[in-house]
Amino acid sequence: MDNKTALIAGATGAIGAAVASELSRNRQWSVYGLSRNAPASPLPNVHYINTDLSNRRQCTDDLASLKNITHVYYCGRATHAEQVLEDTESNLQLLSNLLHAVGNATRLAHVHLVQGGKYYGVHVGPFPTPAKEQQTRAPIRNFNYDQQDFLSAASRQGGWTWSASRPNTLIHYSPANARNLVSSIGAYAALCKAMGAALDFPGPDQAYHSITQATSLDLLARGIAWMSTTEHCANQGFNITNTDLFRWSSLWPKIANAFDMPAGTVRPMQLGDVLAERQSLWRQICEQHSLKQTNLGQIANWGYLDATLIRTWDEIFCHNKVRSLGFHDWDNSEERFMQILNQYRSSGFLP
Ligand SMILES: NC(=O)c1ccc[n+]([C@@H]2O[C@H](COP(=O)([O-])OP(=O)(O)OC[C@H]3O[C@@H](n4cnc5c(N)ncnc54)[C@H](OP(=O)(O)O)[C@@H]3O)[C@@H](O)[C@H]2O)c1
Repeated sequence: MDNKTALIAGATGAIGAAVASELSRNRQWSVYGLSRNAPASPLPNVHYINTDLSNRRQCTDDLASLKNITHVYYCGRATHAEQVLEDTESNLQLLSNLLHAVGNATRLAHVHLVQGGKYYGVHVGPFPTPAKEQQTRAPIRNFNYDQQDFLSAASRQGGWTWSASRPNTLIHYSPANARNLVSSIGAYAALCKAMGAALDFPGPDQAYHSITQATSLDLLARGIAWMSTTEHCANQGFNITNTDLFRWSSLWPKIANAFDMPAGTVRPMQLGDVLAERQSLWRQICEQHSLKQTNLGQIANWGYLDATLIRTWDEIFCHNKVRSLGFHDWDNSEERFMQILNQYRSSGFLP
């Protein structure tokens, strides 16, 4: 199959936008991006469609003319709060409506599903490490499982193949999306510095010293493009991380150093409570450093940061499977974190 046509559901989200960018750079691909709202920064070679996947009739009508789709990328995510389990029914419904809506795509060859460390229960508690793709599922309600089971059954009926990617915490530059580890930590550092405080680590001591892994977003997008077009990757899931390991106790002092402030101590707190009322201080910081005028809520998501830095357990994922099948990309997570932090600073989003 030479010319391929991708439909990316969730094309304005963190991962969907990266997949759209990766595929649309390649002239072999025609790319359609789907979301309810129009993108803030549309990519040049992507055709955007605004439709609601929770409304089966509407999305089926809106996608009816797309008969040439060869690859579907499901990067959607139902609206969710932080620090609670994401809803299984609504997430399954979005995927199921999407597949129903592309039912007329006679060239459909492959459907890719984005999962994550949540597949192993990384958000709930300790899990067997290094996590291997084939290990027993965690005993929790998990929309990743329902979506994968649904996809696997639909692929048998439809005669196409599927794959699933499992990245862990993302490292990326995305000023339009506050649910971002780098910008949220950067905003926390800027507020601490403005208050004359040190950069205390807001999670528990065990979280500061546990081993963790991250996934650079561009690496994930390349991994998704690879597994969705590689025949021997069909019908299975793959861990995709930077492959290296780090501890916050190593990275944290480097972040403090970049802001020219002391690294502080481990001082567990809920940033969502402690920093809830700091909007006017953030405005002062923006003025003082001639930053772009943003609301704090546009640059930091405290609930997401609290949920990420509270994990006292190791987050280690085995990479043998992707490597053995031919994907060898890796990244230096600490260096990439600092590089993206600098990007936020030099582009006027952080001081
Ligand atoms: N972000 C991370 O740090 C991370 C890390 C590892 C794994 N993951 C996994 O990756 C997957 C994608 O997550 P994400 O964080 O990239 O998602 P996200 O940034 O929240 O984006 C969700 C996308 O889905 C679209 N969408 C939501 N509801 C829709 C609907 N009813 N109809 C049509 N489009 C809809 C959104 O656009 P509209 O709102 O405009 O519709 C947006 O484009 C999830 O399974 C997540 O668990 C995420």
